[in-house]
Amino acid sequence: MKVVKTVKEVRDYVNSWKKEGLTVGLVPTMGYLHEGHGSLITKAKEGNDRVVVSIFVNPMQFGPTEDLESYPRDLAKDSKYCEELGADLIFNPEPSEMYADGFCSYVNMDVLTEELCGLSRPVHFKGVCTVVNKLFNIVKPDRAYFGEKDAQQLAIIKRMVIDLNMDLEIIGCPIVREEDGLAKSSRNTYLSAEERKAALILSKSIMAGKKMAEDGERDATKIVAEMKKLIESEPLAKIDYVKIVDSLTMQQVAKIEKPILCAIAVYIGKTRLIDNFSFSL
Ligand code: PAJ
Repeated sequence: MKVVKTVKEVRDYVNSWKKEGLTVGLVPTMGYLHEGHGSLITKAKEGNDRVVVSIFVNPMQFGPTEDLESYPRDLAKDSKYCEELGADLIFNPEPSEMYADGFCSYVNMDVLTEELCGLSRPVHFKGVCTVVNKLFNIVKPDRAYFGEKDAQQLAIIKRMVIDLNMDLEIIGCPIVREEDGLAKSSRNTYLSAEERKAALILSKSIMAGKKMAEDGERDATKIVAEMKKLIESEPLAKIDYVKIVDSLTMQQVAKIEKPILCAIAVYIGKTRLIDNFSFSL
């Protein structure tokens, strides 16, 4: 497995693979890899001849007051993990390789970006769509893998691929959780021992909401109210949002009639964590 820093090196590898008729899977990440990322790499390995993992903490998707500087990084550990999982190439560019002087072209999306994380993080999805589009153009994968942990991101990428006629398949992969239920996240490392315990309120409320839907509750506001009540019972938790939206459009719904996404963002101390469940009738 190789670690490369330039677009040219990635292209040289991918072009040689394509000449041999091999298929390529891409797993875009910001590094500090855990089993959530690992599940995407394994899935990519199963479905393609070659797997590229990109590791790039993308400055464009962080707001001015967010955690760009403190975001955890460990390329040595990540490389070892990718190698163990059978990845073929890591693309780990510097920001200057991705955003040269004079950079001013972006991919922007309406509607799907206007709810949930798009409301709390106004520049976030412009940065995500732009960098993911660039990664698609650099790697030209046959398939790209994204986690359902970031369900709005996954819906947005699927929409972008349809809208902009991108010639690849997007594969969604289920949320990987810690044994006690907390969704795995690079940001979990920010939590103190006390906060780590408190963070369980996210998965608890997700399980409670999911059970209500599975037991037949179709009033979205009732499910949201119960989930909020549960989260508010945890003193260290502060709700950013708890919402039920249409799975495709990300617009809020009052009744569950079509496939929905129930998504939450909760601050545990200073750390903002997300979780979700999907449900269809
Ligand atoms: P990052 O947060 O590193 O996540 C990379 C991929 O791993 C995403 O598709 C995310 O949904 C998936 N993932 C993270 N935790 C997971 C879990 N517990 N279970 C399953 N999948 C999980 O998402 C990003 O990076 C960036 O926005 C990126 C797409 C790379 C663009 O910069």
